[in-house]
Amino acid sequence: MRSASKLIRPLLVLALLGGLLVVISGCGTTTADTARGRELFKQKCGVCHALAQAGTTAEVGPDLDDAFAAAREVGEDANTIEGVVRAQVEFPRPNTGHSINSMPPDIVSGQDLNDVAAYVGEWAGVPGAKPPEVAGGPGAQVFANNGCATCHTLAAAGATGTTGPDLDEVLPGKSAEKIEEDIVEPNKEIAKGYPANVMPQNFGETIPANELEELIAYLQEVAGKEKG
Ligand code: HEC
Ligand code: HEC
Repeated sequence: MRSASKLIRPLLVLALLGGLLVVISGCGTTTADTARGRELFKQKCGVCHALAQAGTTAEVGPDLDDAFAAAREVGEDANTIEGVVRAQVEFPRPNTGHSINSMPPDIVSGQDLNDVAAYVGEWAGVPGAKPPEVAGGPGAQVFANNGCATCHTLAAAGATGTTGPDLDEVLPGKSAEKIEEDIVEPNKEIAKGYPANVMPQNFGETIPANELEELIAYLQEVAGKEKG
């Protein structure tokens, strides 16, 4: 009896440690692909959540940088935040009242969930986080930094979102003034067949005037010119 348990115990400890090592070494590289997680986040989560590193700006759900900034500041690591994100996606908590919306369950699962949770764990609440540089000039960068691609299709930017109108279809021929109004006052004229209040209402405050000008010039230049 005693000798058997003496043997078994170290084996158990070894097995546990082995498991732990697999978990630890798997986090960064083998089990989760955060670059893939970023793309999935933009497609699946960015329609509702702002996250600076993803360049998403939607306000349907909480801003995930704000949600995790405090945790990050007191030293919670990426793995802890990843765990919170994973739990929320698997079992969204009931609407707590600070939002008119609840989050639907199981938006992503399996490997997709691993990748998204690891990505959010890496970046949510990191001070100064911003999206990587994109090709196509300053206007293309403003488009990328503000989550437009999450909701809109624009072939020149590689954007394939379908939550809002296809910009390649609706923008050609529009004046700069009208495009500006569409962006900074989206509820003034709601595009037919689309919901109000889904396009963020605060681009007039969050996009500086010079960047707005670059964005509009870019949209006028590229919309409808490239086939996706
Ligand atoms: C249809 C809109 C919608 C989508 C899509 C969505 N969420 Fe949410 N999410 C919400 C709402 C609304 C809440 C706040 C619920 C509440 O009132 O507590 C929330 C809450 C959260 C929270 C908790 C934030 C906090 O304040 O603690 C996390 C984390 C989160 N979502 C992550 C994600 C991730 C990751 C995805 C993509 C896989 C995603 N969400 C997709 C609407 C959405
Ligand atoms: C969370 C989703 C979302 C994001 C992010 C978003 N939009 Fe929109 N957008 C919509 C929806 C939905 C509509 C249609 C309803 C409306 O008119 O407000 C729309 C409408 C528009 C229109 C008017 C289209 C038409 O048919 O006349 C333009 C232009 C536009 N968006 C540009 C942008 C740009 C540029 C950005 C980034 C700075 C952006 N949007 C970000 C969802 C979004």
